[in-house]
Amino acid sequence: MEKKNIDWANLGFGYIPTEKRFVANYTKGAWDNGVLTEDATVTMSECAGVLQYAQTVFEGLKAYTTEDGRVVTFRPDLNASRMADSARRLEMPVFPEDKFIEAVVATVKANMAYVPPYGSGATLYIRPYMFGINPVIGVKPADDYQFRIFCTPVGPYFKGGVKPLTIKISDFDRAAPNGTGNIKAGLNYAMSLHAIVTAHEEGYDENMYLDAATRTKVEETGGANFIFVTKDGKIVTPKSNSILPSITRRSLMHVAKEYLGLEVEEREVYKDELENFAEAGLCGTAAVISPVGKIVDHGKEICLPSGMTEMGPITKKLYDTLTGIQMGRIEAPEGWIKEIK
Ligand code: PLP
Ligand code: COI
Repeated sequence: MEKKNIDWANLGFGYIPTEKRFVANYTKGAWDNGVLTEDATVTMSECAGVLQYAQTVFEGLKAYTTEDGRVVTFRPDLNASRMADSARRLEMPVFPEDKFIEAVVATVKANMAYVPPYGSGATLYIRPYMFGINPVIGVKPADDYQFRIFCTPVGPYFKGGVKPLTIKISDFDRAAPNGTGNIKAGLNYAMSLHAIVTAHEEGYDENMYLDAATRTKVEETGGANFIFVTKDGKIVTPKSNSILPSITRRSLMHVAKEYLGLEVEEREVYKDELENFAEAGLCGTAAVISPVGKIVDHGKEICLPSGMTEMGPITKKLYDTLTGIQMGRIEAPEGWIKEIK
């Protein structure tokens, strides 16, 4: 397979259209089989449900070239089931989970020339999404939906790659108790835009959102979960019903325990504990594991002992093991790797 002439090593996290994308339609209460198409545009009514009332959910996963030259995706079954959960919460029809995986495989297969080579530092980001497409003017769910998948080669989500980030404790809330923080819906991201633009203007890389009810507990950022390392080497991650159940975080907890023999804890994490941690990181498909060097709480700086120049040693071990599994250097747990062939 001849690869596209792309400067893989210098890619940022942006959109580069590839040859083919997958499109399926839901009408009269049923999904059609879907097709691969070269048409990268979407045509819809001016009154489409997604445009009026933001009825849209999405997923994000990656395809990797392994050390021995295979192309694989990482736990796509979990993206399929999370998208089903997201759809149910927004009164959308579920795209069947087996068909989701088939469509991911078909889309990557049709764009093999865009899967970055092993060792290039880039990956193929895969974006499944679904939205209400027929006219909706009274507030109610749409009748008709479109499910699509495109992919795009990407580099690191944060400029500067693995340089530790500076995080602001935000005064904005991301998700309400009993709201939609635990699903992957566009609405959660729209409402984070003002907060992230403000944080960037003030010189921060990202926001740390607190729980909206008490503002005492750590939730997540706009696009990743947190992991912390205690001074005695335990991995701690926030437990909350209003954060996205990150597939990367769930995988890391397994890796920490089963591969690295570390103690792991998923529990409520109080803002007041932050100064006791040795290391912190953001984890997600796009973020992979991005180290946090400093957290700023209204002018009060909490400097992680791991510093501002490199990843902390335990975060680095987690990073190396997870990416080792994804790139085929380390044997994966049963069912984690789906080869595209
Ligand atoms: N939290 C939010 C709000 C996200 O958008 C993402 C990205 O998908 C994550 C966490 C990380 O989830 P995952 O590891 O499944 O990509
Ligand atoms: C992902 O990690 O896949 C996401 O969807 C996060 C987004 C902020 C790019």
